[in-house]
Amino acid sequence: MFDLFPYLARVLHISSAILLLGGLFYAWNLSKYGKLADNPAYGFRPAVWSLIAALFLTGAYNLINKTNVPKEYHMLFGVKFLLFLHIAAVSLLLVKPATTPEKRARMLTGLAISGGIIIFLSAALRAISQ
Ligand code: HEM
Repeated sequence: MFDLFPYLARVLHISSAILLLGGLFYAWNLSKYGKLADNPAYGFRPAVWSLIAALFLTGAYNLINKTNVPKEYHMLFGVKFLLFLHIAAVSLLLVKPATTPEKRARMLTGLAISGGIIIFLSAALRAISQ
């Protein structure tokens, strides 16, 4: 039977991932050419907080609904969660008004790397579970 809530949670999880990583990727490209606004905190700051909260809540819901997973699943998930903590902490520091543009550029490079790896891990979690 079609389950509406898990479906909606997945839609929200994937769209939040797209918006957060997409926004960070765009900012990273601008920062490479010194074109990032002096204070990208405007507008993007509430978005970053909301998207991180949405990823955490929908991700936890996804996880609770998982049954019958192989033992490697929890190991991969642990790595994914550590990367999530890195992405969440660094993006929140990034949108603090006091952060300097040079620091923002460095932070964005780290975020682009962690963002790429977390997608590989998420696809692996999907591939090894039902
Ligand atoms: C930057 C943060 C995150 C990104 C970019 C991200 C991205 C993704 C993506 C792309 C998927 C694949 C969706 C699919 O194919 O169904 C996924 C699935 C999932 N995510 Fe996340 N996620 C993030 C954070 C989290 C967090 C914080 C949790 C848990 C608290 C979580 C738990 C899950 C679970 C359980 C799945 C389902 C995997 C499976 O099919 O077995 N995610 N995530």
